[in-house]
Amino acid sequence: MPKVSAPQGRRIWHPELRSSGGPVYRAIADALEADIAAGRLGSGARLPSQRALARALGVNLTTVTRAMREAERRGLVIGSKGSGTFVASRLDQVPDWPDPFRRQAPAGFVDLSLNYPPDVAEADLADALAEWAGGLARRPQECRSLLPYRATQGSAADRAAAASWLEEGGLAADPGRIVICSGAQHGLGLSLAALAHPGAKVLCEALAYPGLRAVAATAGLKLLPVPMDSGGLRPAALRDAIRQHAPAGLVCNPTLHNPTGVVTSLARRQELARMLRRAGLWVIEDDIYGALTDAPPRSFAALLPERTVYLTSLSKTVAPGLRIGYLVAPDAAVLDGLLGAARASSWMTAPILAAIASSWIREGLAQRAVRQVRAELARRQRVVSQTLPSGLRSHPGGDVRSPHLWVPLADASTEARAVALLNQRGVGVTAGEAFRVGATRSYGFRIGLGAARSVDVLTGALVTIADALERGEARRGRMVM
Ligand SMILES: Cc1ncc(COP(=O)(O)O)c(C=O)c1O
Repeated sequence: MPKVSAPQGRRIWHPELRSSGGPVYRAIADALEADIAAGRLGSGARLPSQRALARALGVNLTTVTRAMREAERRGLVIGSKGSGTFVASRLDQVPDWPDPFRRQAPAGFVDLSLNYPPDVAEADLADALAEWAGGLARRPQECRSLLPYRATQGSAADRAAAASWLEEGGLAADPGRIVICSGAQHGLGLSLAALAHPGAKVLCEALAYPGLRAVAATAGLKLLPVPMDSGGLRPAALRDAIRQHAPAGLVCNPTLHNPTGVVTSLARRQELARMLRRAGLWVIEDDIYGALTDAPPRSFAALLPERTVYLTSLSKTVAPGLRIGYLVAPDAAVLDGLLGAARASSWMTAPILAAIASSWIREGLAQRAVRQVRAELARRQRVVSQTLPSGLRSHPGGDVRSPHLWVPLADASTEARAVALLNQRGVGVTAGEAFRVGATRSYGFRIGLGAARSVDVLTGALVTIADALERGEARRGRMVM
């Protein structure tokens, strides 16, 4: 594939046309398809302007316009008015995201690769759900209100419940700026759709939640890793990444970061926020674990309110099956973008699920569930400190209620061996591979502390892990990411 230089000195896509005897526009679309299939053009890659392409190929503009229309018809490119034409995302380019539900675990296998909240509140919530559902028989008006389409943003009652939930977590949010969504994964997709056009460069933590990688790939975005240390994102690394890549924004998970458990301090947040404000970047703050900490430092939504989309859900604190999350938009324009993306994805979040969540918040059941989950996680972290080597017990930026624990290892082969060995011994953990973004070279595995059915089961699995680490079967690395 020979390339020619773009006027500004960049290399541009220059197809090799095969003369098949057919029309030239089709040959251009064929060449595009072949280059995408061969991996020479990745999803999100920006194509040269139609004028530049016509010039480079020595054909007239209408031929290129027809070729692009044909490419769009084949699902190869997406045209975005004003910002250019981009290679569409392909589902086969979505990173392999471990799906624990596919695994046929043998009896006795303890799967700590699952990122579940401990199920300590489940029995109470199941009773509450039965009672709520039974009570509907006495509330026919409410039944009818749950059936029609309704405003994409969510009802005023659900947004008021969301605002009070957020306020209890320390964030004062205007219910008029809140959008009810179907969990944090959905919220991430909506925020990225509202803020980033296909092909945009988006910064994130070097180790990041795999669902972020998946949603960025389907949206055709380029995720760029920002190195971390034991305090979270490194300010100097963020400054370099902004200078080097001119990104559109940052997605971060500053409280109980998945997978490391790090809680970024207020001082570090303030420093990062100053940089982000100076550079004019937007921020998507994924605060899904925030309610698990006693006194989380002020959020980016509070420190950088004009540029932050705040996002949380009830999945890790109350019940993942509810699929209820909350987004807070910084201004009316971003709110419009979120609502447009929500209409395009599911029109609205199921009113019945939002109603259950709101009633649990109003009645204090959700808050009680969080207290139970927190207490159980603190108990599980105490087991960690009794079983695992000291460097891991109190890893520097970790929190006593973190639902996960990151075990740093020296290199990729140690990581692969450690995970395979633990699997053989009946313990599932998540390899660092699932979290690495771009060329990040941080190795290790994540232990999900909530997934074990009981503290005893967890203790047994942690003893197996400690044994592997102590025998040097998994050579330890530094807590630097
Ligand atoms: C950091 C982070 N963000 C988002 C999600 C998705 O959560 P939800 O189940 O609410 O979609 C997860 C789930 O593991 C997560 O760890």
